[in-house]
Amino acid sequence: MDKKLHMKNNYKFKTENHNFWKERLKFNPENLVCSNDIKLDILEDNQILNENLKNKTILEIGCGNGILYRKICKKYKIKKYVGLDFVKELIVLCNKKKKRKNDIFLHQDMTDLSKDTFKQKFDFIITKRSVQNVISHSLQIKVIDNLGYFLKKNGKLILIESSQDAQKNINNQRKLLKLKRIYPPFHNLFFSDVRIKKHNFKNIKLKEIIPFASDYYYITRLIYAYFAKNFLNQKPSFQHPMQNVSLDISLKSKLSTQDYSQVQKYIFTKKSVK
Ligand SMILES: C[S@@+](CC[C@H](N)C(=O)[O-])C[C@H]1O[C@@H](n2cnc3c(N)ncnc32)[C@H](O)[C@@H]1O
Repeated sequence: MDKKLHMKNNYKFKTENHNFWKERLKFNPENLVCSNDIKLDILEDNQILNENLKNKTILEIGCGNGILYRKICKKYKIKKYVGLDFVKELIVLCNKKKKRKNDIFLHQDMTDLSKDTFKQKFDFIITKRSVQNVISHSLQIKVIDNLGYFLKKNGKLILIESSQDAQKNINNQRKLLKLKRIYPPFHNLFFSDVRIKKHNFKNIKLKEIIPFASDYYYITRLIYAYFAKNFLNQKPSFQHPMQNVSLDISLKSKLSTQDYSQVQKYIFTKKSVK
C-alpha cells in the first residue's frame, strides 16, 4: 500500500467550509460552535457515550472545539484521545482545554492522511457530522476506508453523519403536509446510504446503520413544523419547547419510526485479513 492514502484532496467549497467553521467559533457560545440543534446534539453524543470507552484509545475526526472529548473524559477513564480538525483555531482551543497531558489534538485535513499520520491504531474512531463536509461521495468513501486503516482488529468506526436518503423521506412527508422542502447546508453533502451499502471497502465492513434520531426528526421536522406553520403562524425555532418534547420522547419511548433519521449512526468493523 502506498505511503500516501489519498492522491486527490480538493473538493467543492473546501475553503468556504473551513471559513464557515472558523467564523462559528468567533460568534457562538461553546455549545453552539458545532451545531444549532443542541437537543439533537444530546442524542448524537449519547450514541458515542453509550459505547464502552473505558480504557480505550479513541480518534475523533473533525473534533471541533473538543466538546465531545470533554464529555467523554467526564464519563470514562480512557487510555488515549487523538482529535483532528482542519481549522487551526479550533485545535489551539482543544489544546488549551486539554484534560490529560497524554492526549493529542492535530491540525490535520481528514482528506490528506498518510499511513504515518498516526503512530498507532485505535479501538474507536468517531465522527460527528464531519465527513459530510467533504463534498464528494467518492472522496467521503475514500476517507472512511482510510480511517479503517487506523482501526485495531476488534475496533469500531462510528460515524454520526447525515443521510440524504432519510432527508428525502422527510421531504416526501413535508410535501404532503405542504411544508417547504429542507436542503442540506451549502457546505455539506449528506451520505448516500445506497453507495455506502454497496461499496466494497478495503479495510472495513459496514456492520449496521442505526436510525437513532428518527423520532426526533419526525416530531421536529414534521409535527412541530406543521403546528408552527398552521397554528402558531411562526417559523420553527431551535429554542421552542417542542424541541424539548421531541428530545424527551426520543429518549424515553421506544423507537417507533425508522425512516426519518436525518442523522444516523454508521457502524463499521475491521475487515479480517485472509
Ligand atoms: C459538526 S462539527 C463537529 C465537531 C465535534 N465533533 C463535535 O461533536 O462538536 C464538524 C467539524 O469537522 C471539521 N472538518 C470539516 N472538514 C474537515 C476536513 N476536511 N478535515 C478535518 N476536519 C474537518 C470542521 O472544522 C468542524 O469542526
